[in-house]
Amino acid sequence: MTQPPPPTTPWWRDAVVYQIYPRSFADSNADGVGDLRGIIDHLDYVADLGVDAIWLSPVMVSPQADHGYDVADYRDIDPIFGTLADMDDLITACHARGLRITLDFVPNHTSEAHPWFAAALAAGPGSPERARYHFRPGRGEEGELPPNNWRSVFGGPSWTRIIEPDGSPGEWYYHLFAPEQPDLNWQHPDVLAEFTDVLRFWLARGIDGFRMDVSDALMKDPAFPDTDDGKPVINKDDASGVHDIYRAFRRVLDEFDGDRMAVIETGADPATVALFLRPDEMNLAFNFGFTRAHWNAAEIHAAITSALAANSDVGAPTTWVTDNHDTVRSVTRYGSDLRLAGEYVPGLASGDYSGGGHSDVALGTRRHRAMALLLLALPGTAYLYNGQELGLPNVDDLPESALQDPVWLRSGHTERGRDGCRIPMPWAGQAPPFAFSATADTWLPMPANWQHLTAAAQRDDPDAMLTLYRTALALRKSQPGLGDGEVHWLESAPGVLALTVGGDTPDSRLAVVLNPNVAPAPVPAAVASWAAVLASDPDVRVGGAVAEVPGDSSVWLRP
Ligand code: NOJ
Repeated sequence: MTQPPPPTTPWWRDAVVYQIYPRSFADSNADGVGDLRGIIDHLDYVADLGVDAIWLSPVMVSPQADHGYDVADYRDIDPIFGTLADMDDLITACHARGLRITLDFVPNHTSEAHPWFAAALAAGPGSPERARYHFRPGRGEEGELPPNNWRSVFGGPSWTRIIEPDGSPGEWYYHLFAPEQPDLNWQHPDVLAEFTDVLRFWLARGIDGFRMDVSDALMKDPAFPDTDDGKPVINKDDASGVHDIYRAFRRVLDEFDGDRMAVIETGADPATVALFLRPDEMNLAFNFGFTRAHWNAAEIHAAITSALAANSDVGAPTTWVTDNHDTVRSVTRYGSDLRLAGEYVPGLASGDYSGGGHSDVALGTRRHRAMALLLLALPGTAYLYNGQELGLPNVDDLPESALQDPVWLRSGHTERGRDGCRIPMPWAGQAPPFAFSATADTWLPMPANWQHLTAAAQRDDPDAMLTLYRTALALRKSQPGLGDGEVHWLESAPGVLALTVGGDTPDSRLAVVLNPNVAPAPVPAAVASWAAVLASDPDVRVGGAVAEVPGDSSVWLRP
């Protein structure tokens, strides 16, 4: 009798995805900026790390006003990163190593250099070309005031006035981010038709999925009303039509075999996020509640439980993420005394892209190690950001002359922006550029004292951050429970996080105990006889039961 094949779990439900910021990963042509060939050259490192997939921040044609998040041609690669042929080679090289490859997809806005925007400027007020963006006449007698009081996420007004083709000061256009990033009008049918076609273009080339940039922001209130605080009014409910867009994207993904996926970027609350994860919409959403949680058990616990609860209503797995290219690196965040100062507020929803402030990097590194074991154990998909596995800190002392993030300019030089988490990867050697490039003139300068942080320096060091990640990722592949099943909370000492993950039988479960306090904590009674398989503190002996978990550390235990 022929049995039906067992249902397979789509790969993205419990994957570990490694985010590559292409400018900062590896430079193959000595121009100081990373590129696709550089990624191919270092793909064995990525595969060896033990991740399942990569996500590339944008590499499409772009004037780089926001480092690729301003796309001028969605169907080609920017020459700074290489060519379409290089991308095809990268796709092949990933698949040959069993890695999936996902791309950033930027639907909220184009570059001002996109042909549609150029056509809109040329065509004049009221034209069909302008209708694809949000053009409005200004207020005031001469139209000299912006159409409303909304502020840009990057600082300053979110409207820019143009010069009409006849040379006169003219209409204003809306940009949620920089003026070089005009927002598209997603109520216009051309926009959906174009972007579904772009998805097909990349899916047909073998791309396994997408990360959808500012995905919940597509539908602004068309009345553009003034608001008390200058925040934009963005509609996210069913009536807004935004979910029809994601349903259309879903249908395109499903035209292709192989569980193509999409993860959305949204800073919304868990219940709103879950709307985008209904079965006929997107697959995953970044869990920024977890990213934003400060170093204490109550906040981390709340971030885990609220995301799990909201997602389970729609049958979607949760993602776990501490670091990305917009956020102060967690080594630095966890080392700042948040309980006293609260200086570091990561995540998009805060609208705060800045670094700066005091941090104890040694303490932050210890806490980052502890967090890595929680991140990689929780059921669902984990996202890692290049350099996280090396324990790179944020670089907050870049000279002002080196700063590149548009936030620096747009905030009137009051917010330094996100450059500090985007420093090029240190691969090997004793001095900058640490084998990132053949030129020392890297697009952002690299700290002179990163020799102990290079991948080469950490590779054979049993106590290194890289070794912790590689060991944890290998265990995640070989041991049941990790990244799967349900979370069960254990009774533990106050202020300590203790939980098990995995299947229904005791053998298939694994316990994680994270102690974010200074003093050691006893291992909870329920798992006191279990054996430690991995500990973030190198002084904890693995292989047998442990009595206590040192402060600012975590441990994995098995029955
Ligand atoms: C979110 C991206 O992660 C960020 O880097 C970018 O600046 C904005 N979206 C605008 O596209």
